[in-house]
Amino acid sequence: MNTQNEKNPAADAEAIRRKLIRRAITQLKASYAPYSGFHVSAALLAESGKIYTGVNVENASFPAGICAERNAVFHAIACGEKRFRAIAIVGGPHGEIRDYCTPCGICRQVLREFCDPGEMTVLLAKSVNDYREMTLEDLLPESFGPESLTGFVSYI
Ligand code: THU
Repeated sequence: MNTQNEKNPAADAEAIRRKLIRRAITQLKASYAPYSGFHVSAALLAESGKIYTGVNVENASFPAGICAERNAVFHAIACGEKRFRAIAIVGGPHGEIRDYCTPCGICRQVLREFCDPGEMTVLLAKSVNDYREMTLEDLLPESFGPESLTGFVSYI
């Protein structure tokens, strides 16, 4: 993660992690999940230093819904971002955060498109004081990404 406090980069990184988790928790109330009742919120840190949030948005036509993580990624891309450093994810039934909420496979793959998996921090949080930290590489090992297509498609 980017650090700004050169004297204490560890404290700075911890402050960024807490900020991301706080943003995800604050936005959880915006989740629209009347069908599953499972509310999810994500806060995504872009390389620019800006944070973008997303929540799951369900639909009466079930497959039309979207997960919180992808919503955050697409929100950020639509604002001009291209690369990400970290994401905090919170969620649970009826918006109660009881357990760590792991990203689904499709969201892992979408995140993979815009980061270095070994450098992408994923925070699975119950609170600002209780979270698991991993990388996207942990969650999606030996992944297929844009580089995998180099030389095969003309637009890469
Ligand atoms: N959900 C997410 O938002 N993110 C995930 O990674 C897992 C699942 C949402 C989708 C759906 O609205 C609800 O949780 C139940 O699957």
